[in-house]
Order: sequence, then structure tokens, then C-alpha cells
Amino acid sequence: MLRVGILGCGGIAAKIADALKGNKKVVIAGVASRERNKAKKFAAAHCPDATVFTGYEKLAASDEIDLIYIATPNTYHYEHAIMCIKEYKNILVEKPFAMSKAEVDSIFFEAKNRNVFVAEAMWTSYTPLHKKVLEWLDEGKIGAVKYVTANLGYDISNVARLNSPVLGGGSYLDLGVYTTNFALSFMGDDIKVSRVFARQISSGIDRDTSYSMESEDGSILGNFYVTMCANTDKMGVIVGEKGKIIADNVNNFRKITLLTTDDKIVEEIDAGEDYLLGYAHEFEACADAIKKGLIQAPDMPWSRTIKIAQINDAVRSMM
Ligand SMILES: NC(=O)c1ccc[n+]([C@@H]2O[C@H](COP(=O)([O-])OP(=O)(O)OC[C@H]3O[C@@H](n4cnc5c(N)ncnc54)[C@H](OP(=O)(O)O)[C@@H]3O)[C@@H](O)[C@H]2O)c1
Repeated sequence: MLRVGILGCGGIAAKIADALKGNKKVVIAGVASRERNKAKKFAAAHCPDATVFTGYEKLAASDEIDLIYIATPNTYHYEHAIMCIKEYKNILVEKPFAMSKAEVDSIFFEAKNRNVFVAEAMWTSYTPLHKKVLEWLDEGKIGAVKYVTANLGYDISNVARLNSPVLGGGSYLDLGVYTTNFALSFMGDDIKVSRVFARQISSGIDRDTSYSMESEDGSILGNFYVTMCANTDKMGVIVGEKGKIIADNVNNFRKITLLTTDDKIVEEIDAGEDYLLGYAHEFEACADAIKKGLIQAPDMPWSRTIKIAQINDAVRSMM
């Protein structure tokens, strides 16, 4: 069993703890909060057998923990990742992994020096349906990819964290990292940002961002938009020479459909119950990788996290 420690008892940490209940590979062995009562309440509600730590440092130093899941606001990921790595703790860091490519490089540098496992919690990439789409592409089911589109929008404009520049708010860092990961998964790594249009509020937070990317050789075009102001259809579409693939939805593939060029369904796969358990896959992948002595997760290698960070920097500089 991989003994996981949760660092930061917020909203996503609660969902993760619930998704891991009864898991056969992973157990929540510890929870840490800046406030003792908060950690105690969290443990009682979600993982009663976990040890309660007051202060993140104590969790990082504990011998009872094999992997720390960092679930703090975006601007704290770097500081918390470095603190854990210095204690030789394996880490799974929430998306966006860090605030810039410079921070990402620095985290991987420290991890490599200490032979510590590090992965980004880009949970979609660890799910079976995401891997199935990659398989369809490898098997040439839709031929060469030509166009990719994806959007992701939730009506979450009232969430305080998303309205705070200090905590790394805004729609792109919250949701755009998923559409960018979608682009990299299905357009390939050799892509660049060609256009960005962001609507900003006075604090500098982007509430809606639309952006385009293209492959370096110009053969694939991608269009993406994200918003924190409305529930959009959240669809991702990959159009190839011989057909297309629709992913519903972009950050949690509930259903994938393979179609001919004239829209006849060739194959459709529903995630079923797995849709609700999506978060467990990333933790199971960490358990498998650590057992094998790896310091990267094969489904989400460091090169992908670095490329996402590079694109994040480009998009944000063009807003
Ligand atoms: N994978 C997903 O589906 C998903 C979904 C939502 C969010 N996320 C990511 O997960 C991270 C956390 O998001 P969340 O929605 O869980 O946030 P949240 O509910 O605000 O929780 C964040 C936690 O971080 C800790 N924290 C440390 N310093 C803080 C500070 N200065 N201000 C506020 N909180 C602070 C707090 O824990 P303590 O008080 O216990 O110390 C807080 O409960 C973000 O990076 C976000 O992008 C991922």
C-alpha cells in the first residue's frame, strides 16, 4: 500500500480522499493543515484512520508517509514541492504544477538530484479513456490529425481562490491547463501558441481566455477556450484525415466517440462508474511507478509538465 499524505485540507483534497476510500493500492495515511482543528475535522469526515499533522513541515518530515499530495493554491505549489523534496518525499502536485517554467525546472532539478518521484496531478492523462484515444490515434483510426478544438467552462466566478492574483487565480491557470494538455496529447509536443484573447477584470484575473495553437510545421491547427463564468459543453474534438474523435468532456473523459468523416459512429466508449472514480487513477499510477523505482509517471512525464509550463508562460504573456 502506498501511504499518501494530503498537504492542504481544501476542496479538491476532500474529493480525492473520498475517491480513494477502499482503494487497494493507496491509503490516505496522513492529513496536514495549517490549523489543527481543520485537519482533525477533515480526517474525521474523509479518512478517519489518517494521522493528523498540524503544519505542513511535520507531514513532510514524517516517516509514515510515502507520497505527499500537494493540494494548496497554485502560487504555493513551488514552495511546498521544494520543502517535500528536501525531505526526500515523493510528491504528486496539483495542476497547474507551478506558476512558471522556471519554477518547474527548479523542482525537477532538486528532485533529480535526490532521486525523488515527482508527478503532476493532471488527472485526465491517467484515465483509461484518455489512453484509449491515444491508442486510436496510434492505430491510425482517423489518419493524420488536422484540427483540434476544446473548451472547458464552469460557472465558478464566485470562488475566492480564482479571483485572487496572489493565489494564482484566473480561468487559464485553472482550466486552460487542461485544454493545453488536451492539445499536447493529440496535436503532439511540437506546437506553439499563435494567438490569445483574454477578458480580464480589474485585478488582472482572466475570466475567459481563448487561444490558438499550431504545429511548428503548420499541419495542425488548434482552437481552445476556457471560462470561469459559464458551464460550457466542455467538448474536445480531434479531426483527422479519415475521421474524428469526440471527447466528452475535456478534463474527465466521460464518453469518447470515434466517427467517420461523415459523422457515422464507429465506436463509442462510456466511462460508466469509472467516471466518478477518475481521481484514483493518478494515485494508482504513482504507486505503480514508485514500486518500480521510477521517479516519473509514465502517463505524465516531466517533459509534458515542462511543455505545459512553457505554453502557460506564452499564453499568459500574450494576454
Ligand atoms: N484536479 C482537479 O480536479 C482540481 C480541482 C480543483 C482544484 N484543483 C487544484 O488544487 C489546488 C487547490 O484547489 P482547491 O480548490 O482545493 O483550493 P481550496 O479549497 O482553496 O484549498 C486550498 C487549501 O490550501 C491550503 N492553503 C495554504 N495556504 C493557503 C492560502 N494562503 N490561502 C488559502 N489556502 C491555503 C489550505 O489548506 P489548510 O487550511 O488545510 O492548510 C486550503 O484549504 C489548486 O492548485 C487547484 O488548481 C484541482
